[in-house]
Amino acid sequence: MNQSIGFIGGGNMAEAIIGGLRKTDKDIQIRVTNRANHERIQRLVDKYSIKASEFQELVENSRVLVIAVKPKDVREVLKHLKNYTLQDKLIISIAAGIPLKVFHKYLPDVAVIRAMPNTSTAVLHSMTGLVREETITQAQAETATEIFSAIGRILWIPEEKMNALIALSGSGPAYFYLFTESLIQAGVQLGLREEEAELLARETLIGAGKMLTESDKSPARLREEVTSPNGTTFAALSVFNEDKLAQIVMKAAQACARRAEDMEGEYSE
Ligand SMILES: NC(=O)c1ccc[n+]([C@@H]2O[C@H](COP(=O)([O-])OP(=O)(O)OC[C@H]3O[C@@H](n4cnc5c(N)ncnc54)[C@H](OP(=O)(O)O)[C@@H]3O)[C@@H](O)[C@H]2O)c1
Repeated sequence: MNQSIGFIGGGNMAEAIIGGLRKTDKDIQIRVTNRANHERIQRLVDKYSIKASEFQELVENSRVLVIAVKPKDVREVLKHLKNYTLQDKLIISIAAGIPLKVFHKYLPDVAVIRAMPNTSTAVLHSMTGLVREETITQAQAETATEIFSAIGRILWIPEEKMNALIALSGSGPAYFYLFTESLIQAGVQLGLREEEAELLARETLIGAGKMLTESDKSPARLREEVTSPNGTTFAALSVFNEDKLAQIVMKAAQACARRAEDMEGEYSE
């Protein structure tokens, strides 16, 4: 991939993607701009060998523009972008809750792809959802595929599934962090030192994650294989079932998807 990518917004998510791309062997020219925090940009420049740019220089010299600002700031960025010729560019927006129609309103005839990576980008394990519309060319879709495949796995979906995707992979890392935190607390309650509990909980999550990736068995099958009738795991899983963990997860995912929908409503005008 011989690309020039300009990040509009140099916050947490931009850094996760830049960090991920820099861990690959891809030769990519990366520029970044933000609104006011020059110290932050300087830190990114020093850490990732990227170029700090003014908005205009970035837009004119990048073939791919990644919009990585908060959803509330997207409109302001689009107003700036309106002043440029963007016909030969690909815009990739990672902003949650901003549908493609908003981009079209400001930038008709410009190629836009929505991407929803997650924070595991920084360790090259993002699960990224990608949305394209019919006018996106094969070459443009391949560019997005290449960028996000370099930092994890991708799934192309129709836009109407985006909020469901956010409820799984977008916000999902935090669910597993919360579960890990709870397991650490349980370990301490059971008499372990905090660092002992943390090591056990973290490594167990990583091992289970690797099993899920590397085994061709379903999650249910893997669970059944480690659950002997009336054994120790069985005792723990019975509590999860009695207290309806599946329903709690369902409610949480629904709340997440609903919030994404609300945000679409808030930012679509
Ligand atoms: N966190 C996640 O897991 C996740 C996953 C997928 C997608 N996202 C999406 O990623 C986007 C960025 O989130 P974040 O957590 O990285 O936000 P963040 O850390 O707050 O960073 C936002 C960046 O945007 C810059 N910015 C704001 N207005 C700007 C403008 N008009 N022109 C240029 N730069 C501007 C800010 O610059 P200053 O600091 O100078 O103001 C800052 O560098 C959000 O839309 C979010 O929905 C997040």
